[in-house]
Amino acid sequence: MTAEVRLGVLASGRGSNLRNLVERGYEVVAMATNRPSCGAARLAREHGIAVGEFSQRRFGSLAERDTAMRDWLRSRRVELVVNAGYDRILSPEFVSAFPGRILNIHPSLLPAFGGAMDAVQKALAHGVKITGCTVHLVTDEVDAGPILLQAAVPVEPQDSPETLHARIQREEHRILPEAIELLAQKSPSLRQ
Ligand code: GRF
Repeated sequence: MTAEVRLGVLASGRGSNLRNLVERGYEVVAMATNRPSCGAARLAREHGIAVGEFSQRRFGSLAERDTAMRDWLRSRRVELVVNAGYDRILSPEFVSAFPGRILNIHPSLLPAFGGAMDAVQKALAHGVKITGCTVHLVTDEVDAGPILLQAAVPVEPQDSPETLHARIQREEHRILPEAIELLAQKSPSLRQ
């Protein structure tokens, strides 16, 4: 188990993936958000995890915000960044600061329905019968980095975005920890 890898989670939403990592005993040492009142930030505070608040309005540009976020994560000695529902694109400077060490979880089978936060709605609108989730490494191109794991999920005729997302999230909660393990096995230097 990779509990000893120091994880930094980036999130803007409810935080069910963060909760899952915490409950499974992962060492989440930092949680950075652009939405300080989001569910993930509340959850982090409840668990005594350091929360970094990086609302865009506090910074002149995206690059400035990401530089501050990078420095804060480094100061917490984060070894692996986990993008779990973070709704902003990361600057190239941020991505290159953690080469091969940023994971993203996306609620579709990439490359289908990449590039935005409405992948579940798009899958329903297209009438696909199977969708799912993907964990991939983050590169400068949004939702296009090397894929580590995917899980397929059936779309049921009566699905709403909420019911389909809930089914996808059950798989997210399984494959995100698996991907962390996989990456840690491939890069022993993550365990410092
Ligand atoms: C997940 O569905 C993830 O795939 C997407 O954002 C959602 C975050 O969910 N990128 P949660 O906040 O972890 O519950």
